[in-house]
Amino acid sequence: MDRLKGKVAIISGAAKGLGEADARLFAQEGARVVLTDVDVENGERIARDIGSEATFMRHDVRRESEWQRLIADVMRRHGRLDILVNNAGVFEIHNPETITEEQYRFVMAVSVDGTVFGCKHAIPAMKSSGGGSIINMASIASVTGESIVAGYCAAKGAVESYTRAVAVHCAQNQLNIRCNSVHPSSIDTPMVQSVPAKMIAANFPPVTEAILGSTASPLGRPLDVAYLVLYLASDESLFLNGQKVVLDNTASITLGSVPGSGSLAEQHKS
Ligand SMILES: NC(=O)c1ccc[n+]([C@@H]2O[C@H](COP(=O)([O-])OP(=O)(O)OC[C@H]3O[C@@H](n4cnc5c(N)ncnc54)[C@H](O)[C@@H]3O)[C@@H](O)[C@H]2O)c1
Repeated sequence: MDRLKGKVAIISGAAKGLGEADARLFAQEGARVVLTDVDVENGERIARDIGSEATFMRHDVRRESEWQRLIADVMRRHGRLDILVNNAGVFEIHNPETITEEQYRFVMAVSVDGTVFGCKHAIPAMKSSGGGSIINMASIASVTGESIVAGYCAAKGAVESYTRAVAVHCAQNQLNIRCNSVHPSSIDTPMVQSVPAKMIAANFPPVTEAILGSTASPLGRPLDVAYLVLYLASDESLFLNGQKVVLDNTASITLGSVPGSGSLAEQHKS
């Protein structure tokens, strides 16, 4: 119950999906959690639901000035920062021939700018707290080639390599700050649930099982990811640094189809 006792965590994009699951689990494990998002209504509702150990702050990860304001506010209120989960992310449907400048810049801004500015401003706060753990949400999309979200693949690839740069910088300077990236396959969140409508809107053919899951290859649950993020955030993973952790029930090594996994599908239904 106390795997994060005494720690202060910021989770971006925490108004729904994976960020929400992280926030709920972190609070259960004793952390004080600062949820941030551009979705104020849901963010405030979830923070209230978690209880007194959670607060919400409106925060657009694309803006460096908002990171400065957020970190200053957290340090004023809590006096320390131990964990940052750079979780906010968006995707757009296109392929490498149809991608628009607007789609490309939007996807890159949320995932890459958000991660770069988040790390930049969290590191000094963590230094003054004696160390910390940064977890960057990347994706299986940086491992495989998902052509209908080509810009998203570029963004998550950048998040993956930036993670290593941050980890090495912190290790070289003995900052006691770790940085790892998490690469899930399709997880059942509002992001994935929005795929069919976005495919239709973009005039793309129906979605594949690899994205929406199937009996042979079910979607993961937000809690499946949250337990990994919890481990990376906690002191249990002190020697794990600069790594890409893939969480996909073999999807990346079996092209998304898991032979004979009916029993796992049954487990996920229960
Ligand atoms: N769900 C999956 O299958 C999956 C798989 C691999 C990686 N991921 C990654 O995990 C992270 C969370 O995904 P999810 O499925 O929970 O997504 P989601 O769309 O369900 O939730 C994402 C949250 O990010 C917020 N957000 C968007 N733009 C923002 C901004 N500029 N500033 C602050 N917040 C912003 C949204 O309002 C939303 O609440 C993302 O980085 C995503 O790319 C998700």
